[in-house]
Amino acid sequence: MKPLYGNWISNRMLKTLMFLIILTGGIETILLISQSRWTMLNLILALVLIVFLVCLIYFYRARWWFDVNGGNIQNKILDLLISHIEWDGNGVALDIGCGSGALTIEIAKRYPAANIIGIDNWGKKWDYTKRQCEANAQAEGVIGRTTFQQASASKLPFPDETFDLVVSNLTFHEVIDSKCKLDVVKEALRVVKRGGKFVFQDLFLIKQYYGTPCQLKEAVVAMGINTVEFVNTCASPWIPKALRLPFMVGTLGLIHGEK
Ligand SMILES: C[S@@+](CC[C@H](N)C(=O)[O-])C[C@H]1O[C@@H](n2cnc3c(N)ncnc32)[C@H](O)[C@@H]1O
Repeated sequence: MKPLYGNWISNRMLKTLMFLIILTGGIETILLISQSRWTMLNLILALVLIVFLVCLIYFYRARWWFDVNGGNIQNKILDLLISHIEWDGNGVALDIGCGSGALTIEIAKRYPAANIIGIDNWGKKWDYTKRQCEANAQAEGVIGRTTFQQASASKLPFPDETFDLVVSNLTFHEVIDSKCKLDVVKEALRVVKRGGKFVFQDLFLIKQYYGTPCQLKEAVVAMGINTVEFVNTCASPWIPKALRLPFMVGTLGLIHGEK
């Protein structure tokens, strides 16, 4: 069986947009037939319909860019994170917000002596499930060294200093059960062993969440971290201009270092 890692533009999102288009279009048509004249309400509905249509076209195109059979941007962004892992591969790693298990499984494949735990809350917003992660790990031949567990990134079910490596990709900004995204970073760093490594990629250039890169680094050091570097990963030349919107990957950044 082939692994299925899904897409960061979820089916759920596209289906919701299609539903809204059908709903708005339906109301518009009924109003036009019943009134047989063009009113202000028709104009507003027509504008709303156009906005929904533009969003649908944009997100379909973005889905193609992210897809492994399209622009493959999703894997390239994961590779950015992986290329910043400086680890000998001995011990236990944690992937926070593992989704469909893509990063967890890739680390297991690259580090044959390592055990990796992937956690996610597998909420309704995404198409991902724990069962999908386990099926993917089985298909990739790493099921014996990977474990998947339901948990929230805001309160990790592990004691302090448990892991030799902690990674996370595009998850912290999604954690709605924590108002302050820096608290999610702090929680992730709590479970890194002293001398252990971390690599986190997120929308770190959203100032409202993390401040400036300098402020972010200072905050991380204040959390008891020895060394931390910031990398402006959204500047990668292969990211299409249309994906560089702030809520897409236009504010992508990465921090890595040692506790
Ligand atoms: C953009 S996806 C990234 C998934 C995966 N890291 C990847 O790179 O493919 C965001 C992930 O964050 C997860 N997530 C959102 N809120 C979470 C929370 N409070 N705790 C753990 N995971 C969460 C979602 O379920 C989803 O899998």
